[in-house]
Amino acid sequence: MSTDNTNWIKIADAVEEICFAPNNIAELFVGEKKICVAKYHDQVFAFVRKCPHAGGFFQEGYIDALGNVVCPLHRYKYCLKNGRNVSGEGYYLKNWPVEIREDGVYVGFERNKLFGLF
Ligand code: FES
Repeated sequence: MSTDNTNWIKIADAVEEICFAPNNIAELFVGEKKICVAKYHDQVFAFVRKCPHAGGFFQEGYIDALGNVVCPLHRYKYCLKNGRNVSGEGYYLKNWPVEIREDGVYVGFERNKLFGLF
């Protein structure tokens, strides 16, 4: 099976160039769509900007001490590393891998699905 199903898109020249809010979450455009990125312990994570429960905007939430993003609406929690709904409601947070390379920060989207995912 091909392992080249990922379309790596550069989102910034460096982590320092991403405009994180004080809650360490930023929204940014990839193409014409917005995604969320979050910084936690020098790692960067990328995920959808709206909560899969009822559409809360993660930009207005926060990251807890364990590395979960917490939705501002009903406080459901999602693991930044794997999207698991660690507060137990059974949802899944769509997320993408992030690579910090010498020439920038890249997010890996599924090839051919980039604009169908949001
Ligand atoms: S909308 Fe996010 S927890 Fe309900």
